[in-house]
Amino acid sequence: MSKPWAIRIAEESDLDAIMQIEHECFGSDAWSADGMFEELTGAEKYYLVAYQGESLIAYAGLNKLPTVHQAEVQTIAVKPSARGSGLGRDLMHHLLQEAIRSSCLEVFLEVRADNPVAQQLYRSLGFEQIDIRKRYYQPDGVDAIVMRAQLSSEPMREPLVLGIESSCDETGVGIVRGNTLLANVISSSMDQHARFGGVVPEVAARAHLEALLPTLHEALAKAKVSLDEIDAVAVANGPGLAGALMVGVGAAKSLAVALNKPVYAVNHLVGHVGVDILERGELETPTIALLVSGGHTSLLLVRDLLDDVELLGETIDDAAGEAFDKVARVLGLKYPGGPEIDRAAAEGDPNAIRFPRGLMLPKDMDKHRYDFSFSGLKTAVARHVEVLNTKGLEVPIADVAASFREAVVDVLVTKAINACVDHNVPRLLLGGGVIANRRLREVAQQRCDEKGIELRIPALSLCTDNGAMIAAIGAQLVMAGRKPSGLSFGADSTLPVTTVQTH
Ligand code: KG4
Ligand code: ZN
Repeated sequence: MSKPWAIRIAEESDLDAIMQIEHECFGSDAWSADGMFEELTGAEKYYLVAYQGESLIAYAGLNKLPTVHQAEVQTIAVKPSARGSGLGRDLMHHLLQEAIRSSCLEVFLEVRADNPVAQQLYRSLGFEQIDIRKRYYQPDGVDAIVMRAQLSSEPMREPLVLGIESSCDETGVGIVRGNTLLANVISSSMDQHARFGGVVPEVAARAHLEALLPTLHEALAKAKVSLDEIDAVAVANGPGLAGALMVGVGAAKSLAVALNKPVYAVNHLVGHVGVDILERGELETPTIALLVSGGHTSLLLVRDLLDDVELLGETIDDAAGEAFDKVARVLGLKYPGGPEIDRAAAEGDPNAIRFPRGLMLPKDMDKHRYDFSFSGLKTAVARHVEVLNTKGLEVPIADVAASFREAVVDVLVTKAINACVDHNVPRLLLGGGVIANRRLREVAQQRCDEKGIELRIPALSLCTDNGAMIAAIGAQLVMAGRKPSGLSFGADSTLPVTTVQTH
């Protein structure tokens, strides 16, 4: 439910309206306008105002003493007509959040002894009385009760996290609460790339701009939450297409500033691994992860999701999905090529043509044991088709598709299983759009069974690029008590997988 007021940081232009409430609430005890101006503009001050429509109805201020990890609530005033609505609690909550963000461990305040309502509110927020100052408030000689709240440095248990993904051609917004998936909305610009036979970066970036807000609104509606309930924003800041990533990064930062919430910059590839949490409640480690999509082909050794992800190998030329797309084109099939080749291959003989397996020869296995190469395979398919064409022979599309698919699957699965065996890891996790491939799933299952390796394949909507996986990693970071990323990070198209969070 959205609240009838909006809270934001106080500005100089709020001064007149603030002074009106100051006089209304504190009468002869009110601060002067000059004093209040200094408060609003002071270096370690944090003042908030609450507006209902055009009118200011409350304000509150915090004085931070970061060097001693303390803060003081300087003032809190709610217009009499707006009292009893929970606004005071809301403002206090914001001040305490700011104190936590500023690494304060204690917050102090003074309250009039003749104001039991306020004391009760502060007690319910964790404050306790630590002292009394006799006859502190003049001229009426009322005592001041000094209260203190100790801020637990304990991390949030089930944060509501919004994740944004825009690294390639999917605009994804996901919302999770802790390890629970609430919404996963994806808008793809794939159709716009179809006539080019591959993702065009500028087209993708523009499509992200157009899709972001509608996708965000749909995700909030699906999750049945409002923006001001979100505890943190997470965004994939790499690796991926620079222009595309920038759209998500810009959106996440704007949201974080507008909502006054922390932002976490998350590695896209680690998102593909962490997504398993949303189905299983946790990620079992160590695990080998094989990520195959139109943009990446990576083999990872994940010892710890947030702290220890190692890149064992990756493609040295085309990504696996890209190879499917390019070969589909050679065979006159539509884009994206993966599903088309899968369909055509169903009728074909996988052993009809022996296509080359990239980086699988003994000499390559020394230097590139976990690396992939698909460009030789793509060329071999093209040459095969060319030879048939020049001879005037019909191209057996089903057989070519099945034989090509077999070669890709064989290499992917062999190298992934090698990684499991070599590192003594009895677990393999798959991710990326190519995981939709039926033969890949079949062969992976077969060979994992043979070796006693547990195979994990998340639901397809979580395998392809999506915002839920980014939100899932964001939630892990929040729950682990990690500091937010700040606002100075940028998009990094070649972000290494070892950087789980960018600061
Ligand atoms: O993860 P994803 O949706 O996003 C990007 O990489 O952008 O992966 C898309 C890729 C495309 O290259 C597509 O051809 C491939 O995944 N793909 C498949 C299949 N379905 C999609 N490749 C092989 N077999 C499939 N059934
Ligand atoms: Zn991806």
